[in-house]
Amino acid sequence: MTVTTMPPGPPAPARVIAHRGASASAPENTLAAFRRAHELGARWVEFDVRLTADDRPVVFHDDRLERTTDGSGALADTPLAALGELDAGEWFDPAFAGELVPTLEEVLDLLAEMDMGANIELKPDPGREADVAAISLEVARGLWPETAPPLLVSSFAPESLAVARDLTPQWPRGLLLGALIDGWSDMAAAVDAWSVHCDAALLNARGAAEVLDAGYRVMVYTVNDPGRAANLWDWGVDSIMTDRPEALLPLAGA
Ligand code: G3P
Ligand code: MG
Repeated sequence: MTVTTMPPGPPAPARVIAHRGASASAPENTLAAFRRAHELGARWVEFDVRLTADDRPVVFHDDRLERTTDGSGALADTPLAALGELDAGEWFDPAFAGELVPTLEEVLDLLAEMDMGANIELKPDPGREADVAAISLEVARGLWPETAPPLLVSSFAPESLAVARDLTPQWPRGLLLGALIDGWSDMAAAVDAWSVHCDAALLNARGAAEVLDAGYRVMVYTVNDPGRAANLWDWGVDSIMTDRPEALLPLAGA
């Protein structure tokens, strides 16, 4: 019999997490992408949260509007009402014209309705590390059902994770890194992290083992190739973020 040695803690996220929703087949970080992830069989999604000019948390990846909307300028300089005028789907495919940049509330409501789990990535603009965490997590705390899987809160910004630790200690934290840099374990300990999330292209089997041996879950981004995913799971990686959940789910097992 195999004895697992993972630390106690919240229920593990799914082995396949749809990155920005099913972002290979729908415009990233839109309600359409999260619905598509659900249709494809994913049980968890990852998404990015940023603050608008009027400090409303919205689900959006870039600091600027150009790539994924028909607007221009910095998201942080754009109030929510102006953001609501922009199309966030047509750039991806005209079939998605009319898709909007969703608020955090809209995304969490939809995910709860679909009974999905979520990794919420806090993306601060410089100097707003504490604010994006405090504002977003206050909103999330007010509406995420207690019966739903705990949100996994991740960030590249240790200061955002420190606020998460203090404000929503009931939700696990994921330390986001590129490579597994020297000092990662002090960074993880400082925010009482539950998981460490690395760029899959910069992780090797030894690094994965080092994180697991230290008692953390290991997650990686962004892997769309099933063969590569199989290798990562062989190394003990817990969850893989992918734009193509449909490609990885058949290999993921339970
Ligand atoms: O959370 C994993 C991954 O989303 C981090 O990078 O740039 O895709 O948000 P990015
Ligand atoms: Mg992200």
